Amino acid sequence: MSQRGPLDFPDSPLSRAIRQPLMLGLFLSLQDIHVSTLPNSSSWTYDYNAAIVQKADALGFDIAFSRTQWLPKGGYDGEASLDSFVALGAMAPATRNILLISTLHVLYGPWHPLHIAKLGATFDHIAKGRWGINIVTGHRAVEHEMFGWTRIEHDRRYEMAAELFEVLQRLWTDTENYSHDSRLSSWKLKDGYITPKPLYGRPILVTATGSEAGIEFAAAHSDLVFITSPGGAHIDSALETLPAHVARIKDRARARGREVKTIINPIVISRETEAETRAYLDAIVAHKIPPNSTSFGHRGYDSDAVAWKGRDDPRHKQGYGLGGNIEVIGTPEQVVAQFAALKRAGIDGVQLNFYDFAPDFDRFAATTLPLLREAGLRL
Ligand SMILES: Cc1cc2nc3c(=O)[nH]c(=O)nc-3n(C[C@H](O)[C@H](O)[C@H](O)COP(=O)(O)O)c2cc1C
Repeated sequence: MSQRGPLDFPDSPLSRAIRQPLMLGLFLSLQDIHVSTLPNSSSWTYDYNAAIVQKADALGFDIAFSRTQWLPKGGYDGEASLDSFVALGAMAPATRNILLISTLHVLYGPWHPLHIAKLGATFDHIAKGRWGINIVTGHRAVEHEMFGWTRIEHDRRYEMAAELFEVLQRLWTDTENYSHDSRLSSWKLKDGYITPKPLYGRPILVTATGSEAGIEFAAAHSDLVFITSPGGAHIDSALETLPAHVARIKDRARARGREVKTIINPIVISRETEAETRAYLDAIVAHKIPPNSTSFGHRGYDSDAVAWKGRDDPRHKQGYGLGGNIEVIGTPEQVVAQFAALKRAGIDGVQLNFYDFAPDFDRFAATTLPLLREAGLRL
């Protein structure tokens, strides 16, 4: 069986992206998210996000990424939430170079591997090797219950995902029919076959995790590991705790003869001067929605995620709770300095998120992107 993935092909879009000293991505919000009532333009709609992705593509950004959640009525923040499997795939013909990563709950349903293999190969061909899956297994009990069962135990979910992706790898690369009776799930496969095959071995695979079992899964199956600060969201805490965390993840992959790259999602709060940045930050914070507010659907759903555990540890600096896994706050020069420090900590790419997404992104492109090139962080 060929285990080759996009990083084994020097001409794949992913191989091209990782040549950047620091990959630049977008952490889109195809979902109604409100951390503050300070007015902003951010929107879950396809058109709002597709326009940003097209601009990012033209500016040479490497990755567009969106999450997906499944919540009951009154769910997370606002109500609206597009499915990123479809929405990011739909952006393929509207873009040229940017990688498009869709979050997929690979265990829910359960999906049959033939469905994921065929749909994945189709997006792969439409996007010419630029499309990939952010593999998630579901950390909220309420989501599993929506799909008709009680939450599957944390580490078992990664075992189930591992079996699924071993089978998907066969379907994406084998030139003969393939049969498999799942050991851990209810699906079976008899003489399964899909063609065309993905262009570079398989679609790009991403795992968003911080747990032992998740890191082990990512080391075996993924190209990119979407990580969080094991400490707090404050940049000081992130920079303190990330180097050992990143080194451990990369070592795990190397022990399997594989290479993985790490990406992280900061929210960027930036204005030309320190005083303007401070005023913008203060305005967002002054209108922050309290964590247990019911007016925006915050419900504190039960989650067994390990990746965010550092947030509960009072020994870490936690930042302002603005929605990014880490917070990068400052003038354009200060933002560049923080990105450079993240790179020194072992981070290969940043997935940016902005409070007022479209105008803040435009401002970033005008003021900060040129400085990133000057600093040697962008080719
Ligand atoms: C950056 C990042 C993005 C994530 N995006 C999603 C998502 O879109 N949907 C989802 O259900 N879980 C998402 N997760 C949660 C993970 O899939 C996982 O359930 C959680 O991080 C716990 O993993 P762990 O326990 O292995 O650390 C995300 C996690 C991280 C770190």
